[in-house]
Amino acid sequence: MKILFVCLGNICRSPTAHGVMEFKLKEAALDWVEVDSAGTAAYHIGKAPDTRTQHAAESNGYSLRHLTARQATVEDFYEFDYIFAMDNENLKNLRDIQPNDAKAKLLLALSYSELPVTEVPDPYYGGDDGFKNVLSICETLCDDIIDNVVRA
Ligand code: 4NP
Repeated sequence: MKILFVCLGNICRSPTAHGVMEFKLKEAALDWVEVDSAGTAAYHIGKAPDTRTQHAAESNGYSLRHLTARQATVEDFYEFDYIFAMDNENLKNLRDIQPNDAKAKLLLALSYSELPVTEVPDPYYGGDDGFKNVLSICETLCDDIIDNVVRA
């Protein structure tokens, strides 16, 4: 099974979900699942995750140092089984490039979670609390995807 997380820049939210998911899959020995992340925009291609994102992740024991931003492509719809958009804008932008014969199921990343929010909020122009919040939401959504998709 191949899972792709997508946000706007691929330097804050989707790399957080990517790193957290990799950690949780490894911890649970679910080694038949592969994870990747991408952005709908091209602004940050080739960059490491935002330092604020890295700090939030590292303070909870996750490392995102191996990740590099890339842009989502039409090919991703044939390569992945699930593509999870972090917010409704990301979902709309993905729908715009989704081919008719796509293999991937395209969903909001919080589809399986019972949180009071349905989107992972963009932390880019805010303070450190926003990055901690993204990390906490990503921990929840990864657990819920493992329970409802990976183990289903
Ligand atoms: P992300 O956050 O989509 O979670 O990676 C953002 C990163 C960069 C920008 C916006 C959001 N930006 O405008 O450059």
